[in-house]
Amino acid sequence: MISVEELKQNPIPEHVAIIMDGNGRWAKERGLERIEGHQKGATALRNVLQAALATGVKYLTVYAFSIENWQRPDNEVSALMTLFVNACSNELENLTKHHIRFHVIGNLDLLPQNCRQSLQETEIATQNNTALQLTVALSYGSRWEIVHAAKMLAKDIKNNLIDIESIDNQVFTKYLQTYPLPDPDLLIRTSKEVRISNFLLWQIAYTELYFTDIYWPDFTEQDFYAAIAEFQKRERRFGKIKELKKELKIEN
Ligand code: IPE
Ligand code: IPE
Ligand code: MG
Repeated sequence: MISVEELKQNPIPEHVAIIMDGNGRWAKERGLERIEGHQKGATALRNVLQAALATGVKYLTVYAFSIENWQRPDNEVSALMTLFVNACSNELENLTKHHIRFHVIGNLDLLPQNCRQSLQETEIATQNNTALQLTVALSYGSRWEIVHAAKMLAKDIKNNLIDIESIDNQVFTKYLQTYPLPDPDLLIRTSKEVRISNFLLWQIAYTELYFTDIYWPDFTEQDFYAAIAEFQKRERRFGKIKELKKELKIEN
């Protein structure tokens, strides 16, 4: 058992991102419908939110539905949309109680109107909460995000709002969906897959990556703590070299 007190002895990641994968396989192994895996996945997210709050993580960004996921069978897609709408109404009380701000990123134009509306209402209802920001990536794809950012930037150049020479990493970041979030410190992917699947490609340049075999519906608070404990063992260098401490020489 990893205790929160123990974890708090060392630096806690400010921003944790999660690719919540494995709902379908979790359901299949139990002879259940895929959607039952997604439903169980929503419960896992509720538990992880508690763990994030307990440890003092400020930003949690989760991948709930990718742009590529629109290519799944209609019945799975529509069941997921219903799940998102229901989660918004069922979870509002919990979000409010724990002062969690809810935010959604992605190509929301592709969502059914009722789903977009529920998400927007939840965003507005929680916009002043400051304990933790939960960002849900929905109908999200990182390449879409970067292309969309490039288009908006091009429009601003065309309208003389920005000078080409002033464009640098910081300026470009302002056009991404995740602005003004800091980059994730830790990215967790569940379900044995060791890939990024078009999630936060720009933002994870120096993020610590953590892969686990556990299917998302089985992922618990303890599993979240284990990921943080592993993060605390990593040495982040950001391309620099480790500071060599000069030995103190005592002259006799
Ligand atoms: C992740 O679980 C949730 C979504 C992508 C919506 P999957 O549905 O991808 O589950 P697996 O990977 O098929 O087991
Ligand atoms: C990534 O999982 C998207 C989400 C978890 C929402 P996928 O199951 O869609 O990714 P691939 O197909 O295994 O790469
Ligand atoms: Mg998957």
